[in-house]
Amino acid sequence: MSDLFRNYIHGEWVEAKSGQTFERRNPATGELVGVYTKSGPEDVDAAAAAAKAAFKAWRLYPAPKRGEILFRAAQLLAERKEQLAREMTEEMGKVINEARGDVQEAIDMTFYMAGEGRRQFGQTTPSELREKFNMSVRKPFGVCGIVTPWNFPLAIPSWKMMPALITGNTVVFKPASFTSRMGVRLVEILDEAGVPRGVVNLVLGGGEVVGNAIIEHPDVPIISFTGSTATGNDVAVRAARLSKRLSLEMGGKNAVIVMDDADLQLAADGILWSAFGTSGQRCTAASRVVVHRAVQRELADILVQRAGGMRLGNGLDATTDIGPIVSAGQLESVHAYVAVGQQEGARLAVGGNVARDGALARGFFHEPTIFDDVRPQMRIAQEEIFGPVTALIPVDSLEEAIDVVNGVQYGLSASIFTSNINRAFRAIQDIFTGILYVNAGTIGAEIHLPFGGTKATGNGHREAGTAALDFFTEWQSIYVDYSGKLQRAQIDEVAVEPGG
Ligand code: UN1
Repeated sequence: MSDLFRNYIHGEWVEAKSGQTFERRNPATGELVGVYTKSGPEDVDAAAAAAKAAFKAWRLYPAPKRGEILFRAAQLLAERKEQLAREMTEEMGKVINEARGDVQEAIDMTFYMAGEGRRQFGQTTPSELREKFNMSVRKPFGVCGIVTPWNFPLAIPSWKMMPALITGNTVVFKPASFTSRMGVRLVEILDEAGVPRGVVNLVLGGGEVVGNAIIEHPDVPIISFTGSTATGNDVAVRAARLSKRLSLEMGGKNAVIVMDDADLQLAADGILWSAFGTSGQRCTAASRVVVHRAVQRELADILVQRAGGMRLGNGLDATTDIGPIVSAGQLESVHAYVAVGQQEGARLAVGGNVARDGALARGFFHEPTIFDDVRPQMRIAQEEIFGPVTALIPVDSLEEAIDVVNGVQYGLSASIFTSNINRAFRAIQDIFTGILYVNAGTIGAEIHLPFGGTKATGNGHREAGTAALDFFTEWQSIYVDYSGKLQRAQIDEVAVEPGG
């Protein structure tokens, strides 16, 4: 089959050994997007072997030269931005402008990490002893297992692969099965940019089989995973048994605080963008709005009116505000929360339906949905929904707002709209999320600062920025004694020379 998307192992595009395939259909139209080779553990074995063999030379290839390859990859991503964005929208549904943003995030990360080819700073320090030199350098691990979700099909793989590569690791990459074509496109670009054979390997297939085979592979000492909390916790158990280094990015229940002194139109802009952008399918999505009671009615009216006017449709249509949900299963799980909210006694203010009018019936669309008068302990205020559903929770003070923001198991992103500088800094001081915005929504993190969350959102690591280098490398501390005699740290006294 000529248009079969294949694995990339040891620099060759190859079919999975099983000979089986799976397909992906456009979630807005039902049209076929691609047919992909369906891998098994034996394909992961081949990929890991290729990556292990390639590591020997890649770790010694000078980092600035590795950077030059990444610069070329970034350039290719930039040249193909429009085409990649269109293909992304077809494959997973996000509106074209946001797909462009996703590609841009990959471009930014690739350029940024290319620059790290000439940095990767370590430390040099004085020594306790004379004629001794102290320094530390970063060392790669070896083969990195990279398992990524469908909601940011280029950005998230680039957050993981680019720092892994620039620090001298090699990669076995499994993109989400829904966005396998985007995974292929990224690897095609790395191949064209000149990544040597075996350094990057791509294995297409499902999480249960391929993902777990990567995570449990004895030649893969380090895993970076982004996905649901349920899957991430399972990955954690598997990785812990094998003492692997693991980075997890999982769920969020991100909140926007709107104080009574806020610019309400601006707050509404931020809320609608953060709650309904990417159809709410971001781990940074604003699925709670913690609003001061004094402005609750006014804010709710603005939000309801504007949400009610948002257009659902194919993301390739420039007039579409909200694209489809990624799959029938996800649509069902999002929609189930509408009934949950109603049973709990929250007031459905707008939306709440699966949209089936006309052409929408061919895809998986859900109306932008706002619940009002939500109490902080309700399930719709506690659980990640991952769809276009948000919950307005009224409060009487900043203290109460901050308690509500912190009162969930997750800790990824939060924001506060206020015109009072003291309140803004109180929020910065007292909110325990990995990301915090003032007078902006909860989405839109930039790639040169650490990305990740506290509590059940992650396991203490951060992606992006220099934090990514920390995850993908181990420190080696080096002591060079050039005195010509045995000097014993902590034991030998250093004499003060006469006249010194
Ligand atoms: C995600 O949803 O997993 O900050 C990533 C943002 C984007 C990345 C989101 N830059 O919303």
